[in-house]
Amino acid sequence: MADDLSAASHWISHANTVVALTGAGISTESGIPDFRGPKGLWTTNPKAERLSDIRYYMADTEVRALAWQKRLELTASAVEPNAGHYALAGLERRGQMHALVTQNVDGLHQRAGNSQDRVIEVHGNIHETVCMSCHWRGPTRDVLTRVRAGEADPPCERCGGILKTATISFGQALVPEVIDRAMGAAEAADVLLTVGTSLQVYPIADAVPLAKQAGARVIIVNAEPTPFDSMADAVLPGRIGEILPALCQGG
Ligand code: APR
Repeated sequence: MADDLSAASHWISHANTVVALTGAGISTESGIPDFRGPKGLWTTNPKAERLSDIRYYMADTEVRALAWQKRLELTASAVEPNAGHYALAGLERRGQMHALVTQNVDGLHQRAGNSQDRVIEVHGNIHETVCMSCHWRGPTRDVLTRVRAGEADPPCERCGGILKTATISFGQALVPEVIDRAMGAAEAADVLLTVGTSLQVYPIADAVPLAKQAGARVIIVNAEPTPFDSMADAVLPGRIGEILPALCQGG
């Protein structure tokens, strides 16, 4: 592993178009559980997967109420970026970050200092809410104020429709322009750095072979094996909060 770490940090220190591809694993050290890790939301409660499936969300007010409670927890507790997020912000500060593709919806990369126009949120984010009927959009914090005041599943105030944070759930279409942008970034990378993702969700996992074919070095930082470890130039298991600062020279 030490060889891999020293080789990987050498490649990163000489790179100027690093593309990071992050997943839920980078936010666990901020207190946000991942999905498929040993203590993941779905590992510990397979039924929780329903919260991420649009069919259940639209059909069942209890699923929606649970989802709003989860959003409340996420925003109420002191959820802060961690050393992993700051390490990636440091890459951008030094002009080495070409793009940061994230599957996360928590907005922690931007709070750590990565600029909004460099962060590509392929699954949307929780900070805006949309009406599934009239397509009204507004800040999630205003809807959470209604949830805190006792509305378990607040309807759209304009049309009475179902409200949902502007995240993309299973069963919902991804935004083609966003995916194209992410894939374009992967093709332009001289280093593709995947962090805290099990690389099991497509099409975004295809960014790994795409970057590799385009000539990038692929570095995978993840506690558990991923399906792409065999094609990576370096695989760094272990805690992201320790590895990433060392890899990115302290962020
Ligand atoms: N250090 C290193 N690795 C970690 C850490 C940590 N502190 N915490 C978690 N991990 C690893 C886990 O071992 C796991 O392999 O991060 C990975 C997270 O994988 P997933 O839970 O599958 O999350 P992700 O890859 O982001 O899922 C992709 O699927 O669930 C849907 O839409 C959701 O965006 C999500 C997408």
